[in-house]
Amino acid sequence: MDNSRNSKLPEKIPTHVAIIMDGNGRWARARGLPRHAGHRAGVDNLRRVIEACTEFGVKYLTVYAFSTENWRRPPAEVRSLMNILEDVIDRELQELHRNGVQLRHLGRLEGLRPMLQRKVRHAIELTKDNQRLVLNIAWNYGGRDEIVHAIRRMLEDGVRPEDVDETLVSSYLYTAGCPDPDLIIRTSGEMRVSNFLIWQGAYAEFYVTPTYWPDFGREELLEALYDYARRERRFGRVPGPLTTG
Ligand code: FPP
Repeated sequence: MDNSRNSKLPEKIPTHVAIIMDGNGRWARARGLPRHAGHRAGVDNLRRVIEACTEFGVKYLTVYAFSTENWRRPPAEVRSLMNILEDVIDRELQELHRNGVQLRHLGRLEGLRPMLQRKVRHAIELTKDNQRLVLNIAWNYGGRDEIVHAIRRMLEDGVRPEDVDETLVSSYLYTAGCPDPDLIIRTSGEMRVSNFLIWQGAYAEFYVTPTYWPDFGREELLEALYDYARRERRFGRVPGPLTTG
């Protein structure tokens, strides 16, 4: 085993990293390729980033792969993205399982075609006891939609107004049981949250890079982790050591 790489890790590793994987289309255009080639290259990179996260000791990785707004893309691109998800499950599931990755889905599963829903459910069930890395795939996901969905379920459950607090709301989100993200990365330079983890990301650190997603590999992830380790997270407190009273 190569331990020399580990000695270069920052001291403070975020428990939960979330990524807005943007720039596949521009990556493809820059090479004169169709957009779906960019998405395929994006999948190859996701594989690299998953591996790097397990190497660096990140415990939760959340990736924004298909938003509730992405249905507005041309039908051929939507179909191609759905096919990519199905392919990833067909081809990568056993390998992810062997590597101790637990797959979870964030978003409205019922909006996907029935066969894809079954495959996603199977992947979740197969990997549910894996502990090395939790991989949340946000697919047909929107942060506002997630909150609407949570409120509906709370009402259906007859939750009393006086019992509603932040912990309860969190427990009704798709991310129930996951710690909030410590670091949110956005590739390809846009300075927007784009309806991603709007509740959970309240205190997350942000890292934005101009690099297109297919080119954001192990080394740049490491750079983002170094950048994160240098930051002082205050959660509303004043700078300096935590004081009481
Ligand atoms: C944004 O790039 C990327 C997407 C909408 C799709 C992301 C999907 C993948 C990386 C592959 C599938 C992942 C899984 C988990 C199966 P864009 O198309 O908006 O790029 P642009 O802004 O340059 O046009």
